[in-house]
Amino acid sequence: MTRDERTPVAEGLDYAALPEGFTWGVATAAYQVEGAVAEDGRAPSIWDTFSHTPGKVAGGDTGDVACDHYHRWREDIGLVKELNAGAYRFSVAWPRVVPGGDGPVNAKGLDFYDKLVDGLLAEGIEPFVTLYHWDLPQALQDRGGWPNRETAEHFARYAEVVADRLGDRVKRWATLNEPLCSAWIGHLEGTMAPGFTDIEAAVRTSYHLLLGHGLATQAVRAAAPDAEVGIVFNLNPVDPATGSKGDAAAARRMDGHTNRWWLDPVHGRGFPEDMVDVYGVTLPEQPGDLDIIAQPLDWLGLNYYFPSVVTDDPGGPQPYARAVRRLHVPRTGMDWEIDANGIERMLLRLTEEYGARKIYVTENGSAWPDVVGSDGSVDDPERIRYLEDHLAACARAARKGAPLAGYFAWSLMDNFEWAYGYDKRFGLVHVDYKTQGRTVKSSGRRYAELVAGHRARSRHAA
Ligand code: FCB
Repeated sequence: MTRDERTPVAEGLDYAALPEGFTWGVATAAYQVEGAVAEDGRAPSIWDTFSHTPGKVAGGDTGDVACDHYHRWREDIGLVKELNAGAYRFSVAWPRVVPGGDGPVNAKGLDFYDKLVDGLLAEGIEPFVTLYHWDLPQALQDRGGWPNRETAEHFARYAEVVADRLGDRVKRWATLNEPLCSAWIGHLEGTMAPGFTDIEAAVRTSYHLLLGHGLATQAVRAAAPDAEVGIVFNLNPVDPATGSKGDAAAARRMDGHTNRWWLDPVHGRGFPEDMVDVYGVTLPEQPGDLDIIAQPLDWLGLNYYFPSVVTDDPGGPQPYARAVRRLHVPRTGMDWEIDANGIERMLLRLTEEYGARKIYVTENGSAWPDVVGSDGSVDDPERIRYLEDHLAACARAARKGAPLAGYFAWSLMDNFEWAYGYDKRFGLVHVDYKTQGRTVKSSGRRYAELVAGHRARSRHAA
């Protein structure tokens, strides 16, 4: 089907299941888009160090310039608007605001986000702030980083500084983005900053991140009593590769590693004991910590990209389960399996098993090897298909009772895709990194249509 034959309402998308006031958003993260890494008092983060370490990022790419969003934010707000998004999820860079991690606040860093928030509000776009999207100030890493308890305390103070400044205008706050990546990928697998392969450091990191989440939640609420605070997890259903007992146990462990380790403690259930045994690391627990970690959440953020199918891997690293590459299944340009049902399953699990009362899909999207046409346009039917299929699955979950309040497409624009560098493009808007030119892709136009379709329907129903 060509773009023009498509109806404003996607086939199979049950619009009526999405509540009125549904938040349609797009997302980015500071280090992936801002650039200007040495400007206005910003200090290095662990991602500056990591990306500048030879061999860590594909092509030797770094976030030094990225999308130059630090200078082009006005134009970028225009793009958010062009996509009809009613909300923009961005992250605040800790190393801009408190460059040393603790200690003096950098007024210029705060000013940037202040202007961004005002600029968004002036266009009727809700700012949706993430406090930590992986860019720990290097100064804190030098003092031990997340394996250290003090890092959680410094995080809470930084959160308070940001909420003090923006809390009169920003209502929705996420403490952490995907702590799994910081802990497991950054400290156990080693392919993200800071690049360690140490189970003890990884478990301590996971613990202190969640402690930091709880402390920061308290700090934001104290500074901005109206704030709605949540946390963003990357979660996915885990299935065993075969019917064997070994694979069933492996799937249970991988589910613990990916999902339960994060969901249980924030829901007041403590850290799953089976996983404490699997890791074999004593938790750095102090009295009262579990209550801090289990602050009531105003909402839960779900980032979903792909499902996982695993097999027993007794000789591998914790959790002794290995992802299996299934043949004959569709995949994105990341080589990630495409399975829209996974997002529906996860939304329903959060609702049924964890009693979630409000959920945002805070990220969902796909990378493809986009081609710029001779007329400068970027036609990306695969990304449209992925988007429509996942939105339809979200609506199915909502129809079955999931309290879904919004959906944020990842990403507003192509950007620095961490260890994959600039080669992997997730944007609804194409970025030409040589000129910093932005072009709305077909998927961006499609997203705008889908949003407009839902708004028109809500108006009609009202
Ligand atoms: C998520 C990250 C986000 C982006 C997408 C593709 O894990 O939160 O920054 O890189 O993956």
